[in-house]
Amino acid sequence: MKSESPREMPPYLDHEHVPATMGTEFVLRFYRLLKGTTIYDRNNVNIQRHTQDCVQAINPFIRSEGQLFLKIVRRNFFFNNVRIPVKADKYPIFKNFSQEMEKRWIGELEFTSEVSGENLKNFVYILSGLEEENESNYLSVRMQLRAQGIQGISVGKLEFFRDEELYVDSEEQKRYSKEIYFKAIGLVKEIMEGVKSQRLINIRKAKHLMQNAVNSIMQDESALLGLANIKNYDEYTFNHSVNVAIYAIALGQRIGLSKKNLSHLGMAGLLHDIGKTKIPGEILNKEEKLSPQEWVMIQSHPVLGAEIVMRVKEWGELSTRLIDAAFEHHLRYDLTGYPKLARKRNLTLFGKIVSLADFYDALVRPRAYRQFPFVSEKILGFMLEQVGKHFDPALVKVFINMIGIYPLGTLVLLNTNEMGIVVQIQEDPELIDRPKVCLLSYSDGEYQKGKIVDLKEVDEKTGTFKRFIVKTLDTNEYNIHVAEFLI
Ligand SMILES: [Fe+2]
Ligand SMILES: [Fe+2]
Repeated sequence: MKSESPREMPPYLDHEHVPATMGTEFVLRFYRLLKGTTIYDRNNVNIQRHTQDCVQAINPFIRSEGQLFLKIVRRNFFFNNVRIPVKADKYPIFKNFSQEMEKRWIGELEFTSEVSGENLKNFVYILSGLEEENESNYLSVRMQLRAQGIQGISVGKLEFFRDEELYVDSEEQKRYSKEIYFKAIGLVKEIMEGVKSQRLINIRKAKHLMQNAVNSIMQDESALLGLANIKNYDEYTFNHSVNVAIYAIALGQRIGLSKKNLSHLGMAGLLHDIGKTKIPGEILNKEEKLSPQEWVMIQSHPVLGAEIVMRVKEWGELSTRLIDAAFEHHLRYDLTGYPKLARKRNLTLFGKIVSLADFYDALVRPRAYRQFPFVSEKILGFMLEQVGKHFDPALVKVFINMIGIYPLGTLVLLNTNEMGIVVQIQEDPELIDRPKVCLLSYSDGEYQKGKIVDLKEVDEKTGTFKRFIVKTLDTNEYNIHVAEFLI
């Protein structure tokens, strides 16, 4: 049922294919049952009904997917490794459910075969009977399941401390993301130089690195998305390639692509501009206006890129995806752009995702010929205007939800006259204009990190929001290096 090929129906257009929808349904029903066990005894009619509802959510899913795996990490829910986007109206339920699980130190639920109502009910009563604050609860659940002869159900320990601050990553996660980011830069450099000197490309290393990037984004996308704010004039192409990979993976995750597809998407992002290795640096970095001939050369990089990938035999099944992304990333949704097509074709999902990521990253950062980057809200506005012409409407919507209307790293002025930098986007799309913000304090001639505030905080006395964004400011005018606040 899960689509492995991006050429098939894009999963975000077909609800049958969205594990996230199933995930939401499972969580709602499971939570109702769990809650029920604290009120009713096991023969109560409500319990029977909730159990049956839950079985009906679990078994069809097991039949098609082979397993059902729910993991909770810092109040993010992953359903068979795809993060469930929580809708505003469901938010309180998800929050309560994660609190119930946190209390019991359970972070994973796993079903590997179809369940009977009786076994499921027994399992949930075991869960609800656990003592609070006991870190080894998961072991006790497993033991009790075994003792009752219940197979195909298991639980795992909660991975993170629940009192951990939610807005910043654990230092470990940050360090890990940074390592991936800089390794990826090194890798792109190695591959691009390898192509120039016709050396062999270390494909295994590249695949492994992208798998790590996917894991990191699944755990917490804000760490790597934050790093994508790094601007580097000297190594623009390398930085840009890694950023495109990050945006592409993060977007792919949100539309429910499988883990394998996500790491392929990462590779496609890393290598989308590989054709530029065949274009002289003087032209790529030229600050003056390009001559028509030079412009033709620049525009040949998608085709050159596709040719380079074709020549590398070792890519195997990945090859077509890399070719699609390299070839299509300057084609628009309405098929204008370049290269000029002799015949109409449908753009691939990989091509569309990489081109969106490429467009965003290219405008958000400075270039040799443009001193300052555009402010990101302008870019998002522009993207919305171009929906249907430039970009796939459904993808743009998901992308903007991901980036937020105030993306990570945006400098904002608050109603309290405080200035701050956006450090985390809210999970709930209804709160897209209320991110978490790191306040700035001015001392010793420069801006320093202050405390982090959550703009969804409400003043209890007045019932209104404590802080809100009045407008965005240009970081260049204030000489603020955003990356320092995010990494
Ligand atoms: Fe390009
Ligand atoms: Fe690019």
